[in-house]
Amino acid sequence: MTDTAHTPTKNQDFRADPAFEATRALLRAAQRIAVMSGAGMSAESGVPTFRDAQTGLWSNCRPEDLADERAYRQRPGWVWDWYMYRREQLKTVKPNAGHIALAEFQQRHPQRLTLMTQNVDRLHQAAGSTGVLELHGNWVDDRWLDPCPKTPACPVSRAAPGSPPRCPECGHLLRPDIVWFGDSLPAQVLAEAERASLACQVMLVIGTSGVVYPAAGLPIAAQHMGAAVIIINPAPTELDRIARHLLRYPSAQVLPALLDDI
Ligand code: APR
Repeated sequence: MTDTAHTPTKNQDFRADPAFEATRALLRAAQRIAVMSGAGMSAESGVPTFRDAQTGLWSNCRPEDLADERAYRQRPGWVWDWYMYRREQLKTVKPNAGHIALAEFQQRHPQRLTLMTQNVDRLHQAAGSTGVLELHGNWVDDRWLDPCPKTPACPVSRAAPGSPPRCPECGHLLRPDIVWFGDSLPAQVLAEAERASLACQVMLVIGTSGVVYPAAGLPIAAQHMGAAVIIINPAPTELDRIARHLLRYPSAQVLPALLDDI
């Protein structure tokens, strides 16, 4: 139940919002803090969300047409080229003040904060965060679409260039190391994220609509264990009902002040 659900007026300064100081007090007292971020965390870095990115050749595509193993097996070159196009886009974006505030907080309190993200842009790492739990993989790495039967340990680096690159021995394809619709999340990453969610006293849920599971289940598990869930998002989310406090502000604006001097 949200104790102080406070829907501020449009241009209210967040410092005057009772939820702001209440959240700072909870953060000061917390031994273990978990953070889960989503696409909104990178919005102020100019990262087009997955759904905004369909332009040019792919402008009339649905995400399912691209981020899906079946689609990839049917049109590997077309889907691979879209990912290459997005990788080029992401080379120019930089972490924003929200990413940097979280990284600096973790540097001050290395044992207190566990950061998990649904994002694949690696902007948390670029800001200096370490041990980031990438629930949905990342844009940078590739892996084999199928294990190579001839040389099971065939390193990805040996793939012959192409669109997409192939194993020179058996012709198997590479694929982006991103969790596609229908894929399972990386088991060890999810287990670690679950442990952190169950052990924390406060969980910051930043820039996510809270509609995609199992990631969206982590704040719910934290709240069931008694943690205070704080939602940082200018818009309502599917997780608002379990929030202790709602900070309806852009994350790059509120995070630096929220974490300052804690
Ligand atoms: N600060 C905080 N939140 C913001 C900001 C901002 N500056 N700008 C937008 N948001 C919020 C939006 O209000 C929205 O609730 O970010 C949220 C983004 O929601 P989604 O686009 O659904 O992204 P996300 O929740 O991360 O999606 C989860 O779904 O597409 C799949 O695998 C993909 O990881 C992704 C998953």
